[in-house]
Amino acid sequence: MQQARVSIDPAFVVAPVNRRLFGSFVEHMGRCVYTGIFEPGHPTADDNGFRGDVLDLVRELGVTTVRYPGGNFVSGYKWEDGVGPVEDRPTRLDPAWRTIETNAFGLNEFMEWAKKADIEPMMAMNLGTRGLQEAIDLLEYANHPQGTHLSDLRIEHGAKEPHDIRMWCLGNEMDGPWQLGHKTAEEYGRLAAETARAMRQFDKDLELVACGSSSRVMPTFGAWEATVLEHTYDVVDYISAHAYYQLHGDDHASFLASSVDMDRFIHQVVATADHVGARLQSDKKINISFDEWNVWYLEELQAGNGGLPEDWVEAPRTSEEAYTVVDAVVVGSLLITLLRHADRVTSASQAQLVNTISSIRTEPNGPAWRQSIFHPFAQMAKHARGQVLDLRLDAPTLSTERYGDVPLLDSVATYDAEEGQVAVFVVNRDPSQPVQLSTSLRSFDGAELVDALQIADEDYTAANTQDAPDRVVPRAFEAAQVTDGVLTAELAPASWTMFLIKVG
Ligand code: AHR
Repeated sequence: MQQARVSIDPAFVVAPVNRRLFGSFVEHMGRCVYTGIFEPGHPTADDNGFRGDVLDLVRELGVTTVRYPGGNFVSGYKWEDGVGPVEDRPTRLDPAWRTIETNAFGLNEFMEWAKKADIEPMMAMNLGTRGLQEAIDLLEYANHPQGTHLSDLRIEHGAKEPHDIRMWCLGNEMDGPWQLGHKTAEEYGRLAAETARAMRQFDKDLELVACGSSSRVMPTFGAWEATVLEHTYDVVDYISAHAYYQLHGDDHASFLASSVDMDRFIHQVVATADHVGARLQSDKKINISFDEWNVWYLEELQAGNGGLPEDWVEAPRTSEEAYTVVDAVVVGSLLITLLRHADRVTSASQAQLVNTISSIRTEPNGPAWRQSIFHPFAQMAKHARGQVLDLRLDAPTLSTERYGDVPLLDSVATYDAEEGQVAVFVVNRDPSQPVQLSTSLRSFDGAELVDALQIADEDYTAANTQDAPDRVVPRAFEAAQVTDGVLTAELAPASWTMFLIKVG
């Protein structure tokens, strides 16, 4: 059997676990909002029309921040359409997803929902069809306490307290030709810089995200980040990154190694940002907001009408993936990679939360359930506490078609000194072979295994459905032990495993 060795030491600190890495995303896309988080008349809906069953699952998932309202949607969105008396709100066409938008749900509903879900909002603004004036209007409407036209309008609309939104995305995927108002890096860089500068005149402490590349395979990747940051370096805090992965044909090895691509993506964006910092002779560091990531069967979506419905409809069933066991393992591995880079990736949003490319699925007037990918996220959001530790890994490699030879294991650990707990998260990327893991915890006193959970299945394609919502869940993992400060375990092929270890 293949053997892998890992050493964990409390001295190998990467950074504190940043709770904002466990963010998600709600876009006006498909049924994420309508019949997802918002369904007046649903048996569990509250007075605001928020589904109670979904709110319970959002809390259980452990989501900390939610990006809103898009995505591609935001690049044609007029935020004013979504505020004020519902009966006065206009119905519009949304060309991004070719849908009819009723605007029954907008900014104030989202902020009310955010309070109930106990999440921090991350607001995206339209720099596609709109610009600086609309951005500062939105900021004044949302955040100014009272006594001006727009802040008083918010109060008139029922939101007495200012929303005090701290994180703002300056547009969405402006490098993509599919984006409404797509721009060159020069054009976008200038607009983002002037918008950021103006926003800081209102509130210098806002946290602002400039658009990076919408994927690492964009022809402008690297050059885009460099140009945009040359314009915006002093006035933004983050550059964004987006990445979606999928199984191509039967190439499970490459799919299970998707986080290798995410890892290279992060390294390259950090290198580019630091290069710009050096050229500008700046000591400031720009961090990454990985504000869209997930498994998404995009090729299948695009095989239809470019992913769009033929007719203009309200809340269609777009990208309602039924995630499998292997998808959950890949999601676990992507989260491991984000955590491993906690020193420079300081915000992240899994795309998306409900129904569309989602952790949570619902049926209109019916139940809500956890998809397979819900589980690694929920476990890691709950148990990754304290400091992220960099592991020393000595593992064989796996040969993959897309990424070459990659380490067989993907892993990270966190150490909560106050609670005296180490959490170790490991993915075995090998689609067909188990691996014998030996982890040295000798730098800790009295290591004792408290719990071990695994996601693995002989049937990789198993998924949770309305009728079998718990087909794929993490199961107690018995084949592990800690003896004399060494954790040993046989990890199943294509598996995600979490070990919780009590230390002195
Ligand atoms: O999350 C789905 C879509 O993916 C978003 O709208 C867009 O930003 C990205 O291309």
